[in-house]
Amino acid sequence: MSKFSNATLLVTGASGHLGRIAVEELLARGATRVIAGTRDPSKLQDLAAKGAEVRTLDFDDAASLPAALAGVERLLIVSTDAIGRRAEQQKAIIDAAKAAGVKHIVYTSAPAARPDADAGLSTEHFWTEVALASSGIGFTILRNHMYAENTLADAGHVISSGQLFGLIGDRGTSYVTRADAAKTAAGALLEAEGNTVEDVTGAAPITNVERAALFSKLTGKPVEVIAITPPQLQQGLVAAGLPEGFAGGLVAFQRDAVTGHHGVVTDTVERYTGKKPTTFADFLAANKAALGA
Ligand SMILES: NC(=O)c1ccc[n+]([C@@H]2O[C@H](COP(=O)([O-])OP(=O)(O)OC[C@H]3O[C@@H](n4cnc5c(N)ncnc54)[C@H](OP(=O)(O)O)[C@@H]3O)[C@@H](O)[C@H]2O)c1
Repeated sequence: MSKFSNATLLVTGASGHLGRIAVEELLARGATRVIAGTRDPSKLQDLAAKGAEVRTLDFDDAASLPAALAGVERLLIVSTDAIGRRAEQQKAIIDAAKAAGVKHIVYTSAPAARPDADAGLSTEHFWTEVALASSGIGFTILRNHMYAENTLADAGHVISSGQLFGLIGDRGTSYVTRADAAKTAAGALLEAEGNTVEDVTGAAPITNVERAALFSKLTGKPVEVIAITPPQLQQGLVAAGLPEGFAGGLVAFQRDAVTGHHGVVTDTVERYTGKKPTTFADFLAANKAALGA
């Protein structure tokens, strides 16, 4: 039994990949009053059948927030996918949580969240962190490192072409699986107190060279790393069809891997889940089909 197993717990974005796993984990760990908040409750009938209360919750709909938050003691805010509007959206739910008397908020942030011009997509997370820290509500900021799942998006192409394009000087990325990040967030909702900022990482930093070697080992196909500059990477991503701004965000993440921000390794997953994080090699082995192996 965790310290807050009987508190009223709400997870936002509960129909998303991470939010859904977090709700399932809370129920599996014996939480007794779990609320799953989502813009579309019809997607969560299975969670209702497992014992969660489902409430309509949309950060963009201020009128929905007081009812969604009524009676909630501890809140997990899953950062949204509305890039460019997230700081404003997440400020709205923090303000509503304050008005509703929420005691503690867990927030899914990003590694090295900062306001600097080179910070790409993580700037919105920084301003959400600031809003949270200014709110007077207890907080646990979980800076989720790169999901291991992100590497599957282009793995098939990388392996079939035999070429992995990455930035010169890459010092590694401590990929964490989405499930480990979600279970960590659930654990923090059940246990965390005070005000903390914690990096949520995998077991070890993986460089592009190591990632290519794992792809080769699992598929038997040679994969070579082609080291390029940030402008070359930006150009390549845009040529592949990504919007300019989003491509810039991805390049910023890779620049942070060069500066070492993404190579951090912590024990946060183990502390909140009781298990060591899934290694990147084990993650890829479990997803061999996505590699075309
Ligand atoms: N660390 C990483 O590598 C990485 C990679 C990708 C994304 N992320 C971040 O992590 C978050 C969770 O990841 P995921 O894989 O679960 O993403 P996802 O499956 O795409 O889910 C998007 C989430 O945003 C929520 N959302 C969107 N608009 C909202 C609104 N107006 N009000 C409330 N919630 C809203 C959705 O909730 P409902 O649909 O249930 O309302 C859903 O939980 C993402 O949204 C993003 O901020 C991190």
